[in-house]
Formats: sequence, C-alpha cells, structure tokens
Amino acid sequence: MSRDGGALALSPEDIVAAKASAAASAVALIEPGMLVGLGTGSTAALAIEALAQRAAAGLNIRCVATSLASDALARQRGLDVIAFDDVAAVDLAIDGADKVDPQLRAIKGAGGAFLREKIVARAAARMICIVDSTKRVAALGKRPVPVEVLPFARSFVGRAIAQLGGSAVLRDGMSDQGNIILDCQWQVLSDLAGLDRQLSDVPGLVGHGLFLSEIDELHVGGSSGVEIVKRA
Ligand code: 5RP
Repeated sequence: MSRDGGALALSPEDIVAAKASAAASAVALIEPGMLVGLGTGSTAALAIEALAQRAAAGLNIRCVATSLASDALARQRGLDVIAFDDVAAVDLAIDGADKVDPQLRAIKGAGGAFLREKIVARAAARMICIVDSTKRVAALGKRPVPVEVLPFARSFVGRAIAQLGGSAVLRDGMSDQGNIILDCQWQVLSDLAGLDRQLSDVPGLVGHGLFLSEIDELHVGGSSGVEIVKRA
C-alpha cells in the first residue's frame, strides 16, 4: 500500500488490464438463465463486453442496466436488456467502484449513476464489485461522496451538507434522472454509518454514493492476477 493507504500505482495500460481481469473473473460466475445487473463506468463496460461475448457464444441471460450509457452499450453488443421496473429480482449485479475499504465499503458515483446502481445492487441476490488494485484503500474519506439532489432543493441540501460538516461542489451536467450532483468532502470521514443515515434523512437528497452494505464480493485485478474478497 502507498502512504495514503491506497495500493501502489499501476501504469495506465496495467490498470486497463487489471480492470479487464476483474471483469472477466466476475462474468465467469454468470450462469444460464440469470438476470444480471449491469453497472456503470469503464470497469463495468469491460464486464458488459465480456458478458456480450459469452452471450454470443450461447449463454442465455437477460440484463437490467444502471444507466442510459450501460443500457446503450449492452444493447449495441446484442445483450437482452429489459426494464428494471419489469423484474422482481436480480440474480447477480456486477459494478465498479471509486474506492473500496477492507470491510467492502465503497464510494461510488464518479460516473454519476450511483442512485440506480444502489437500487440494482439492493435488488440483487449477490453483488460483485470489480476494481483494479489502485481502488483499494485502508480507509474511505479522501475522495468526495457524491449526492444526487432534486434541482428544486439545491440550496437547501447544500446548507444541510454544511451543517453536517461537509463542503459541496456542484458537478457539471445532470444525472440520468435529470437531477444535479454535489460532490461532498469531509475533513474526516469516521462514522460512515452515521453519515449514511444523516444523508438519507435530508429531504431533496435522493441518493448518495456511500455503499456500506451492498457489496457481497470484491474482485480486485492487479499485477499478480485477481484477488477475491468475500464479505465476512
Ligand atoms: C459510476 C460508478 C463507477 O462504477 C465508478 O465510478 C468506477 O468507475 P470506473 O470503473 O470507470 O473507474 O460508480 O457511477
């Protein structure tokens, strides 16, 4: 690990290879007939590509997507994507993360899809998080926690974040739901469960990127293959 508790650096090419190996490791666990939750981001996109290859070779599965981008990619690659509203349960969700700690708690949302990602992860019987080894940290906190906010409540939520000791920066663009995203930074992030509850309690704040309990299994691609860590 590096001095800030993160993994040692990989070259950009090594990072892509590590993401691809983590994605392949998770996709290998998909069985015929499964309903698969497709995550969002560059690592999740590699999983979609790997899954499309398996489907083209005869694997019969259906998918739900966590973003318009993943929906479009999956359909373009020939996967059978159905509306999440039409499914009762997801068998396996596969998604990336921005940072993951040793308790499999993560910060997600650099791609802005964390609201749908959390819904699909909670609907899934099993959620596998796929990352390259640079995403592992000893403790979450250095990276901002994104929150999705109804545009109507932007100032109200900004003041609520300040009252919780955080500082919020408005991200460019909007979510797939047409909401805004604030990237919120705290000096110290120690009580993650408390912050989860406090954020969830703010009216107008419709979701946040702390994933404290959703990840069942972590597949970490690195220079020496894929390490699999299961939630205790
Ligand atoms: C999108 C996410 C992504 O999974 C996360 O940002 C990781 O992205 P990448 O695989 O491109 O590093 O949470 O909302």
